[in-house]
Amino acid sequence: MTAVESSISLPELAALADSSLDTIVSLQDPSGAYPASPTFSAYKGYSWFRDGAFIADGVSAWGGAESASRFHDWCSRILVSRRAQIERIVTAADAGTPVPDAEMLPTRFTFDGAEGADEWWDFQLDGYGTWLWAVVEHANRHVLPLEQWQEAVDLAVDYLVSSWRRPCFDWWEERAEEVHVSTLGCIAAGLAAAGPSLTGDRALAAKAAVQEIRALIRQDGLSEGHLSKWLGSSEVDASLLSVIRPLGVFPAEGSIGRATIAAIDAQLNVGGGVHRYAADTFFGGGQWPLLSCFLGLALLAAGDRDRAIEQLRWAASTATPAHELPEQVDDHLLAPHMRQEWLDRWGTVATPLLWSHGMFLRLASELGVKA
Ligand code: BGC
Repeated sequence: MTAVESSISLPELAALADSSLDTIVSLQDPSGAYPASPTFSAYKGYSWFRDGAFIADGVSAWGGAESASRFHDWCSRILVSRRAQIERIVTAADAGTPVPDAEMLPTRFTFDGAEGADEWWDFQLDGYGTWLWAVVEHANRHVLPLEQWQEAVDLAVDYLVSSWRRPCFDWWEERAEEVHVSTLGCIAAGLAAAGPSLTGDRALAAKAAVQEIRALIRQDGLSEGHLSKWLGSSEVDASLLSVIRPLGVFPAEGSIGRATIAAIDAQLNVGGGVHRYAADTFFGGGQWPLLSCFLGLALLAAGDRDRAIEQLRWAASTATPAHELPEQVDDHLLAPHMRQEWLDRWGTVATPLLWSHGMFLRLASELGVKA
């Protein structure tokens, strides 16, 4: 730990969490959408199901129940308004003639629920699973009736049950030809969370899909005992931490949990700052505070509270003087020669990145650092 990190006191961490909640709530669109980053060129005007689900979870955990509910309302409206598209996708998959990737649901939407005119790496399944998990966590945490979101929950379940085997872009919007283990984990977590609210054939299908996904991960998604980046890969990716905590698909103390935390800690964590994966070149391949928080959550679940607090401190050390958390920092780059190319293409690193603030809230809440 550096001197800067160790000097960040618990009340300062709590204050940064409070200001993180303010940042997120003040930037939430009246529609309920959470912008990924308000000013960053490539993200401006869009909200992602993946980012948003984790942001809503952090907000919900830090006491922002009303804001999180409004985000879930927004997601619900989008899913319900796309009922015909989802039914078409499910019917085609059942008939053995799946629709092309371009006709699947996108990963991000404009705040009014449209797809937007900009080209994107849009076909990603994880966000719909993470949303299911987050909305159920939120309803349980605040004892809210899930029925208000049930129609959308049912649609998301049908979509994922029909399509979870398809290769798609991963969390980092890369490698569309692979089946990514963290994507499978997000889907399994969402279907498992939705389970108790489902009835009839839908309940049976969701349960069967969770079992099949878990079996497939055990069969093809492990390497030397740890979760691997995609089926058949031997690499790790820090997104796999989420499958342990907070998604809980594999327990932190189990053999898969322990091996995955150890591999990511050894290969991708440099002094508390966590890289996405070893070959990352995006903005030079820096360290992501949101991933440091995922590592903190996993370490805490594995019983290492001291190291979990160190992870929160490291994330706090990346805040700007205006208390904004960036997407990544450049203190330790895996591919320094690639940094300028991205700066020229998209401008300065996304700051604030609301997902970073959301993960900060979730770890701070789990550590009980509330002022
Ligand atoms: C990241 C995604 C993220 C998006 C918006 C991309 O650069 O790879 O994981 O959803 O930014 O924050």
